[in-house]
Amino acid sequence: MTSLPAGPHPVPVDVTLVPELNGLFAPTSTEHDLGDLEVVGELPAELDGVYLRNGPNPRFGPLGSYSYPLDGDGMVHAVRLGGGRAQYANRFVETPALRAEERAGHALWSGLMTMYMPDATEVSPELAGTRKDLPDINVVRHAGRTLALAESGTPFVLSDDLSTIGRETFGGSLPAGITAHPKIDPRTGEMLVFCYGFREPFLTWSVVGPDGAVRRTPTPVAGVERPTMIHDMAITDRFVVLIVAPYYFDIGAAMSGGSLLSWRPDEGTRIALIPRDGSGPRWFTTETFWCWHLANAYDDEDGSVVVDHVAYDAPDTQDGTEHEGDDPPRLARLRLDPRTGAVRTDRSSEWRVEFPRIDDRVLGRRHDRIATVAARTEGADWADTLVVTDPGSGREAHWSAPELAIGEPVFLGDPTDPDPDHGWWGSLAVDRTADLSWFLLLPAADPAGGPVARIRIPVRVPLGLHGAWLPTGP
Ligand SMILES: [Fe+2]
Repeated sequence: MTSLPAGPHPVPVDVTLVPELNGLFAPTSTEHDLGDLEVVGELPAELDGVYLRNGPNPRFGPLGSYSYPLDGDGMVHAVRLGGGRAQYANRFVETPALRAEERAGHALWSGLMTMYMPDATEVSPELAGTRKDLPDINVVRHAGRTLALAESGTPFVLSDDLSTIGRETFGGSLPAGITAHPKIDPRTGEMLVFCYGFREPFLTWSVVGPDGAVRRTPTPVAGVERPTMIHDMAITDRFVVLIVAPYYFDIGAAMSGGSLLSWRPDEGTRIALIPRDGSGPRWFTTETFWCWHLANAYDDEDGSVVVDHVAYDAPDTQDGTEHEGDDPPRLARLRLDPRTGAVRTDRSSEWRVEFPRIDDRVLGRRHDRIATVAARTEGADWADTLVVTDPGSGREAHWSAPELAIGEPVFLGDPTDPDPDHGWWGSLAVDRTADLSWFLLLPAADPAGGPVARIRIPVRVPLGLHGAWLPTGP
């Protein structure tokens, strides 16, 4: 992310007033290595690999402001499976700023919205006046590198034992960083990314080849004239798909004490289909909606592009406080026709959901199921239900566990079998009744039947964001 002007020196945040710093969210400063975890049920023998999940976990009490989910240090949690056994470990993502704060014994940088950066009286000359890296959103593996990802910032490479190797700029080709939600094409092995910025060009896209070298350097997306918040993307065989809602960065307002982000619902939401061959984007405009996460997109046989996503009336609902008249976030399907410019939107489910995921082995191609999590209990602070929806047929299954806070589902495929019924939905869940967590494995063929295995993690893993299953082997 490009740098912002510095604000005044901030005061500590009263953490008792921030829900996302308490309860199931409360950060931990302990790094564990726990072997031979208890398994209730039976671990599928086919599964050999590691599940990784990232999430905001501030090492020290925040200064000035704390904006969930962007602020906070990254902490990556790992559940290793193999040989019928399970292990757990967690590590901070050790950025230069976090190391400086560890040396100081307290926070030196403010939260994102406060815009304070320490000067050379507080930190080394190389760090003075820089923004803090925030690789706390997601984690992926590409070209043999495990990347802890920030929101439009440079990723950090992690070793197999989760120690931080260092900043990844892709040979200097992507110095401004990438989205926290890159998409890895299982057909080509390419990693497609975008990056927004506060200065022109406000939005670019790039391609990293399967060898880890940049194939397409940052390419401006024509038609984006303002700094705009965009969190996720999708790909198809033909297109990069970006949903561009009217949610703008307003640095002038932030500098005078207002909000850094401005929602303009009267402007409509636009969707860009950017041909992967490098030709100019095709824009579509719909009624205004906000989207944090896309599930997947694909090119349909009739020439249209299908985009499954979670649609909000406005971005404010991300914190669970729905505004009067706002619908809750729901799974929706856009059908875009590049020949006619026509757009159709259909609601795919009545569940209020987030964290949509598919079997990543068909990413960019037709999928027949999307897993999400939903809060079934009225007023719940987090999801207690896993929902699997087929937007094509309307088929839906769910499994609820009121005693658990269930995190993003990730598909663990049987490496010997591409059949999507022969896999498992894995999810890291926090126990609401005890100071411990569970890694759940629900069979893809019958998620409503509940987990076939529950791995007991004898510590509380703070609620977090996104993750990935990384099978062992080529
Ligand atoms: Fe996200």
